[in-house]
Amino acid sequence: MAETEKKVCFITGGSGRLGRDVALSLAKNGYSLFFTYNRSREKAADALDKIRSFSPDSAMAQCNVSKVTDIEKAFRLFSEHFNRLDLLITSASNFYSTKLPDVTEAQWQSLVDTNLKGTFFTMQAGARIMKEQSFVSRIITMTDISANLIWKNFAPYTASKTAIQHLTRVFAKVFAPKILVNSIAPGTVTINPDWNDSPENELSKNIPLQRIGEPADIMEAIMFLTQSSYVTGQVINVDGGRLLN
Ligand SMILES: NC(=O)c1ccc[n+]([C@@H]2O[C@H](COP(=O)([O-])OP(=O)(O)OC[C@H]3O[C@@H](n4cnc5c(N)ncnc54)[C@H](OP(=O)(O)O)[C@@H]3O)[C@@H](O)[C@H]2O)c1
Repeated sequence: MAETEKKVCFITGGSGRLGRDVALSLAKNGYSLFFTYNRSREKAADALDKIRSFSPDSAMAQCNVSKVTDIEKAFRLFSEHFNRLDLLITSASNFYSTKLPDVTEAQWQSLVDTNLKGTFFTMQAGARIMKEQSFVSRIITMTDISANLIWKNFAPYTASKTAIQHLTRVFAKVFAPKILVNSIAPGTVTINPDWNDSPENELSKNIPLQRIGEPADIMEAIMFLTQSSYVTGQVINVDGGRLLN
């Protein structure tokens, strides 16, 4: 076990576009990182290399969050490696369009089991560790402003993100005052090449602050939540004002 006075963050989905940037920024801000990936082993290995240049004791593990046994295994590995958990970020997520009325059971399972079931059991495993610690720790769920919008072609995705915001409030109440639990709901930060071919300036038309977000915008909110000691059960929409439309 790595004895460390540094703060430790466990983040799922560290191989993701935004997840990787968040993990790297936290390493730059003095955290040791334990992150999970599912299929993108090469991206994850590359991320770990970069993270270790700021935080050499960091580690990663493969974990399919839709399987509770994988989550339990990842937390076992985590506990062999680190002796504290300051921050848990649930970032792993699946995102693709599913058109009504043709959503299949397989699509529902891959979206909802990853996003909702995976987040729930990750939060539960993290909270089991955190509630035994002598210090206040934090959970941040990554959701999406679409939890507040009616997107016609993303019902399983948006339903799972809305449910995670609800879980955020439940966990915040159950584990207060030991664990502060909040959610960050980004607007568009990275454009997924698989589903959205709208040019960036087209997307920006619906955003009062006239640009899509950057990972640094999300990091500002994360750093605020890591430093705040009187905010729990909240959802911070980081969307350039998109929800005002
Ligand atoms: N980027 C944005 O503009 C944006 C906007 C709104 C909300 N968000 C939210 O912010 C968070 C981070 O987004 P992102 O841009 O990093 O997403 P992303 O690029 O789509 O990456 C998704 C991540 O989730 C992991 N993942 C997918 N299925 C998994 C499973 N079954 N088990 C474990 N891990 C799984 C992927 O791992 P592998 O690749 O290794 O399989 C990857 O690390 C997500 O929760 C997302 O919904 C992002």
